[in-house]
Amino acid sequence: MSGVNEIRSAFLDYFRKEGHEVVASSPLVPRNDPTLMFTNAGMVQFKNVFTGLEKRPYSRATTAQKSVRAGGKHNDLDNVGYTARHLTFFEMLGNFSFGDYFKERAIELAWNLITREFGLKKDKLLVTVYHTDDEAASYWKKIAGLSDDRIIRIATSDNFWAMGDTGPCGPCSEIFIDRGEHIWGGPPGSPEEDGDRFLEFWNLVFMQYEQVTKEERVDLPRPSIDTGMGLERMASILQGVESVFETDLFRHLIDAASSALGRGPDADAVASLRVIADHSRSSCFLVADGVLPSNEGRGYVLRRIMRRAMRHAQLLGARDPLMWRLVPALVREMGQAYPELVRGEQMITETLKLEETRFRKTLVRGLGLLSEATEKLASGDMLDGETAFKLYDTYGFPLDLTQDALRQRNISVNLAGFTEAMERQKEEARKSWAGSGDVATETVWFPVRENAGATEFLGYETEQAEGLIQALVRDGKTVDSAGKGDAVAVVVNQTPFYGESGGQMGDTGVISGDGFSIEISDTQKKADGLFVHLGKVANGTVKTGATVELKVDHARRTRLRANHSATHLIHEALRELLGTHVAQKGSLVAPERLRFDISHNKPISPDELEEVERMANEIVVQNSPVTTRLMSVDDAIAEGAMALFGEKYGDEVRVVSMGTGLHGAKANRPYSVELCGGTHVRATGDIGLVRIVSDSAVAAGVRRIEALTGEAARKHLDEQDKRLKAAAAALKISPADVPARVEALLDERKKLEKELIEARKKLALGDRSPAGVPAENETIAGVGFLGKAVSGVSPKDLKPLADAGKKSLGSGIVVVFGARAANNARRGVAGTADQAGRVNPQHLVGGAA
Ligand code: SER
Repeated sequence: MSGVNEIRSAFLDYFRKEGHEVVASSPLVPRNDPTLMFTNAGMVQFKNVFTGLEKRPYSRATTAQKSVRAGGKHNDLDNVGYTARHLTFFEMLGNFSFGDYFKERAIELAWNLITREFGLKKDKLLVTVYHTDDEAASYWKKIAGLSDDRIIRIATSDNFWAMGDTGPCGPCSEIFIDRGEHIWGGPPGSPEEDGDRFLEFWNLVFMQYEQVTKEERVDLPRPSIDTGMGLERMASILQGVESVFETDLFRHLIDAASSALGRGPDADAVASLRVIADHSRSSCFLVADGVLPSNEGRGYVLRRIMRRAMRHAQLLGARDPLMWRLVPALVREMGQAYPELVRGEQMITETLKLEETRFRKTLVRGLGLLSEATEKLASGDMLDGETAFKLYDTYGFPLDLTQDALRQRNISVNLAGFTEAMERQKEEARKSWAGSGDVATETVWFPVRENAGATEFLGYETEQAEGLIQALVRDGKTVDSAGKGDAVAVVVNQTPFYGESGGQMGDTGVISGDGFSIEISDTQKKADGLFVHLGKVANGTVKTGATVELKVDHARRTRLRANHSATHLIHEALRELLGTHVAQKGSLVAPERLRFDISHNKPISPDELEEVERMANEIVVQNSPVTTRLMSVDDAIAEGAMALFGEKYGDEVRVVSMGTGLHGAKANRPYSVELCGGTHVRATGDIGLVRIVSDSAVAAGVRRIEALTGEAARKHLDEQDKRLKAAAAALKISPADVPARVEALLDERKKLEKELIEARKKLALGDRSPAGVPAENETIAGVGFLGKAVSGVSPKDLKPLADAGKKSLGSGIVVVFGARAANNARRGVAGTADQAGRVNPQHLVGGAA
């Protein structure tokens, strides 16, 4: 038992047998802690369990937790490659007690595992305790039998563990192994403690307090335990190698890198290969958890890590993108323990390749500039801030890349100068906004955007997260607080709420915090990357700086997902059936329905609509996974992805694919491939059912299709069914016979109507008018007159009646008056047999009315 994968299993098994629940690793982007950049320890996912805010069905747990320490309080980025033990990504093995066992049992469990299960020699081990923690010291003596000189008291923060500036914390006790005199370094607390000889591999934290604010610390409801063992460090100990980079897992990654480079891991290359291996690992895991390279926040840390690795690849002679080629080796090594790597392999590969391809050109030019600028500098000198800023701004060199590049020559960077240059540029950007003529009500978002930075969107992975309120806006102005009943716009550092875009409506839900809650009725995007939650304070008072819980209305979002994915399927089906001239002209993805406008210059026949619906449902029942990938717009379009007319795309685009084509050129290839930033179902089966409910024309050459999915589609069908059954019941026949019966009834009715008209005509000219008024031929003032008021005769039959009257009268005037109802009583015709010119028929009709 010494491979990394075996050690992980052995650890979890040991604690499972000791009554611990084996809990899966949480994502690297902490959803339950807005103050943390990345999950940096196993306890992060349990933070609220320690403080008593959250209850779990177990009081003991064990995990192998993915962790990144490359930004924020715990940052090891600068050390990677230069020490035997630092990594930006590592796995932390831990056991946790939530008010169950405490110090004594924690020490006993740890000691038994390392000495009995892992077989470490007692005389090589030593521990540290917080300087005032006599209790822990006495347990180490009692349980492990360690002598006083092997229980070292440390007064610094090294032995008081805190996750961040706030959160659960407590004194801790670290376990070290002495790796032998041949390695440089001294025991903890000594001047040489930074060396690699004494290796810390397990930290037992006695969680007792919660740091509420910087100044205030309170007791936790129940003392708890949080331990963290570096898996890679334990592997290096058990495999008898000096560095984590020589363990089996890293050897395989480094081999993959050196074979991709066509260069063996010679002494000159070692540090760079290690950096590449470590940085590839953190990059892949970050992308798998939804972080994409960008110029801000987590995305920028990822970009820094990647670009740093690329420089090292360049140093080793790489002329082509390299990191993406290591993905298969990583998936092989770690995919079983972390299936998200397998699921995300394509997305990871494309993201790395894209970032590498794009940065390569500027990397080479930037390195040229850097070597010119430092040509005359010697060890101990400083590079001016202007040049470092130019490298940053024009060549995309993160500051730490420049620092790393100069490290070997012992040249530093003038940081004050760098910051000054950066500030100057920001000032200029501010001035140009002022002149950009934005609507006054919208300008409020620019300063907010500048202070808060872009909002981190977590909504592809989660519908619930914590965040920090960065700004509140009321009536177009930023305010510090808002009270019950206030309409307010809320900006939070990270959010699972989707901001309206690409036709998909913004999310609704609840943002709540200590004593307040806000009902969110919409989410909009403003000022380049700001997500603005619009809502009303339902109770309490909300203040900027508050920690909040953001919860998307799950049922509504589920319907939005289904409708958005269905839009893609209908789009593709229409193109397949009607031709590729069909292009989306706009869409609305609402929770209750979807509306989809397409260019097509003739009506779509009912048969065609039926076929489109059938094709879409064919993919629904495939229940195939919906995959998302990231690539450049050009690559995406080259792959056949549909780009939407009028949409603005960034350099990188998400490409959403769903379904497997069944026929023709699409057979066995992804069915629908579209550029899309929206949220989708996980598998097509989640759409449930697609039902097209209408097709109409909205403008010349533009048709509008409306459709329903899932429950709404089922309800629609159900209503149709009920109506059919009601019709069948009224006809006293079975529903299946309704169409034939209705047709027969319509024929019969037509026949009857015809007969009726004939009968009425006869009656009307007979002795009694249908109205019952006797009709006679009269002679008035010497002119023959036949006047009739008839009812039940349609207007178009009045003229033939008048003609028949004329015939019977011979000479004179005929007026036939249709008196069907009061409101159309004026309808009549007058005929003159031989009186043309003497009498105006219209006057007669008017008079009769
Ligand atoms: N939280 C502690 C650490 O990260 C122990 O898990 O070291």
